[in-house]
Amino acid sequence: MSTLPELTSENSTPRASSQNAKKLVLIGAGKMGGALLEGWIGLGVDPTCIAVIEPQRTAAIEALSARGVRINPDPASIYPDAIVIAVKPQIAADIMPYVASLTSPSTVVVSIMAGRKIAFLAAALPRNAAVVRAMPNTPAAIGRGITVAVPNSGVSPAQRQLADALLRATGAVEWIDDETLMDAVTAVSGSGPAYVFLLTESLARAGEKAGLPAELAVRLARATVAGSGELLHRSSIDAAVLRQNVTSPGGTTAAALEVLMAPDGLDLLMERAIAAATRRGRELAG
Ligand SMILES: NC(=O)c1ccc[n+]([C@@H]2O[C@H](COP(=O)([O-])OP(=O)(O)OC[C@H]3O[C@@H](n4cnc5c(N)ncnc54)[C@H](OP(=O)(O)O)[C@@H]3O)[C@@H](O)[C@H]2O)c1
Repeated sequence: MSTLPELTSENSTPRASSQNAKKLVLIGAGKMGGALLEGWIGLGVDPTCIAVIEPQRTAAIEALSARGVRINPDPASIYPDAIVIAVKPQIAADIMPYVASLTSPSTVVVSIMAGRKIAFLAAALPRNAAVVRAMPNTPAAIGRGITVAVPNSGVSPAQRQLADALLRATGAVEWIDDETLMDAVTAVSGSGPAYVFLLTESLARAGEKAGLPAELAVRLARATVAGSGELLHRSSIDAAVLRQNVTSPGGTTAAALEVLMAPDGLDLLMERAIAAATRRGRELAG
């Protein structure tokens, strides 16, 4: 299914303004919000249908304004179909009254704030407001993120489609119904890119210890992780099968995997890491 019809009017050409085009509000155009915004515009959403709320008029914000995006418009003039909240969770309580003032019964509020629960968001909004809590990850910046989304009972099928299209602008989207899984989701895919970067660092350090010049070790580790990630991306084959495909019995890869797959190896370490992140997510959410 193309995401475009959900965001633009069926009869409008991309970038052509139309009365039927979805009206979007983005609160916070930082790293994640900025990636979403670029994704929407890239999909053909009319920039004049997007309002961005940002306290500082930076050069990046001025550039958005030049492209037609409305910056900090009069709230009474917006009537959004969707509001996407992409500010730091620490200032959530400050911005929720403003979000509430923009929310009508037909608005879906999509929050990507880590750890901010649906109950917290809904409590600050008009009764029965449609709320989607989502957790993206940093590859969103290159359109290769994965976002997990959970709706509340106020979200209609059409609002869910709209939220899906908005989030899909930065990569894949998975929907779940059980919000309690969000801490584990955050631990796996939200924080996951950091583990892969650490793997790259660790592989380079081990290469250096094995005698490689430091810079060469870094280049080898980086290209290996990036290339393997791309192979995974392009293939539908299980990671385990891809691993077996590069492992000859009794060979060098098998020797390394014997260490990594030992009972006290990578599985145990990853299990502990994910458990620690999940626990921390629960603590932060309160
Ligand atoms: N980065 C990730 O990997 C990741 C992953 C999953 C979820 N998230 C979630 O995504 C959200 C955004 O993260 P980020 O990394 O994109 O943060 P960020 O780059 O700091 O972006 C936040 C943006 O919100 C703006 N802002 C601050 N106060 C505001 C206000 N009162 N009204 C409107 N905008 C305001 C900030 O402007 P100033 O810079 O001028 O303060 C900044 O541009 C967070 O809630 C985070 O939990 C991030």
